Amino acid sequence: MSNPFREDLVSRNRPEACSIVIFGATGDLTHRKLIPALYNLAADGELPPQTKIIGFARREKSDEEFRAGLEELNRKVSRTGHNEEIWNSIVQNIHYHTSEFTDADGYKRLAERLDAIDAERGGKGNRLFYIASAPEFFDEILISLKQAGLNQAADGCWARVIVEKPFGTDLATAQHLNRVVNDTFQESDTYRIDHYLGKETAQNLMVLRFANAIFEPLWNSRYIEQIQITCAENLGMEGGRGGYYDKSGALRDMVQNHLLQLLSLVAMEPPTDLSADGVRDEKVKVIRSLRKWDTVEKVTENVVRAQYTKGSVSGKVVPGYREEDRVNPESQTESYVALRLMIDTWRWNGVPFYIRVGKQLPKKGTEISVHFKSPPGVLFNALPGGVPGCNVLAIRIQPDEGISLRMLSKIPGTSLRLEPVKMDFQYSTSFGKASPEAYERLLLDAMAGDATLFARRDEVEEAWRFIDHIENAWHQSPTPPPMAEYVAGTWGPSAADELLDADGNQWRRI
Ligand code: BG6
Repeated sequence: MSNPFREDLVSRNRPEACSIVIFGATGDLTHRKLIPALYNLAADGELPPQTKIIGFARREKSDEEFRAGLEELNRKVSRTGHNEEIWNSIVQNIHYHTSEFTDADGYKRLAERLDAIDAERGGKGNRLFYIASAPEFFDEILISLKQAGLNQAADGCWARVIVEKPFGTDLATAQHLNRVVNDTFQESDTYRIDHYLGKETAQNLMVLRFANAIFEPLWNSRYIEQIQITCAENLGMEGGRGGYYDKSGALRDMVQNHLLQLLSLVAMEPPTDLSADGVRDEKVKVIRSLRKWDTVEKVTENVVRAQYTKGSVSGKVVPGYREEDRVNPESQTESYVALRLMIDTWRWNGVPFYIRVGKQLPKKGTEISVHFKSPPGVLFNALPGGVPGCNVLAIRIQPDEGISLRMLSKIPGTSLRLEPVKMDFQYSTSFGKASPEAYERLLLDAMAGDATLFARRDEVEEAWRFIDHIENAWHQSPTPPPMAEYVAGTWGPSAADELLDADGNQWRRI
């Protein structure tokens, strides 16, 4: 079966066939996410025919060996299963290029090879460079692409770059990387990936807020009491991740990018249009408006950091964070962080945004909940049981994607008593099909030249500016805030509960 490209499915700019060169092609991301994403696009008829994939990495490998390794993983993880015919329709267009990231000759050979592949298999010379190597090579790869002239496209074609995370480790390194990227590619050809923006439910946030007339009038400090974002994971440092994670921690690994992106989608003003810059102009204003704390005491009051100790997750005994493989036994890196954020804008004046993210929590789940203010208590407060809670709009980002609205209702019967009920929308039952993986959408957008779901230079830098001021309080103060503990398999340290208690609030159970 040939790749059944379905033009009728395309509701955005048309994705164009190109050669996708993946740097760091022997890594997990390529095997578990990128190739299955391209395979699934082919299966759904969305991958333009003549899309070529060239893996670039240091290890010696033939095309056949590379393809066999990819196939093995695709069989295990692909969202739509593994169909021989579909696989065969793309596998002939998968190649492997061996080179050191620092070898100028390797890039020269790459340029020749890309032209040769186009000549043999058809293609007009569009190039998409996907930098998914270890971060210490990002600069070198960009500079080498420029030296080999690969950042310049032939007439009528384009050359774009996708840069994986981590995009720097603080503001200074992110600014440096931005300079190198923009010295090589124009900003409009630069795609800083944040896979949370490709998640179906994250994309739906703007539709929910701005395509439905009922929410926007209430979406402000007059009607909203507080907003919570929880991102829980029931994994620790499996697969040797401890080495990377211990230098990063929850704040840098998750909050700087994914959580602040979700926050900006929830809190932004309506954009003037749906263009990439229209949307990103509004998102960056949210991050810029986050209140920064000028003393270590204020950071301590508003941010809780913690590490897990030995415990049990999903019935399995797991080690404490400091006992994990490749983690420093005296590590001061947080595996959990909870924050009380304030957005100093007219709309959000006085509304706390609580964010928490952690490893080795009881289950995996990401949810945004919007807690509305209670109505005046004049009518129902005197009833037995009073008014049990307020309206909550819960947006489940993953898993079990959907949205629910908690309302109060009268319990049927002859007396008047209230109980919360739930209106629930689930993607799987309403639309009857699984959502595409985030990387599917994002790869296609980059092929279509649509950067709306990618982070712009100023967004990344503003986010680091905010994160840096907390990291500095943690690591540069003579009296750093304490590192709390939580038992693996529980919902985090008691200090995180106290953070909300102080405002008379509680974390929502997800
Ligand atoms: C990555 C982080 O960006 O996101 C990981 O580096 C984390 O630490 C992962 O596990 C979570 O992604 P998802 O899509 O599984 O929620």
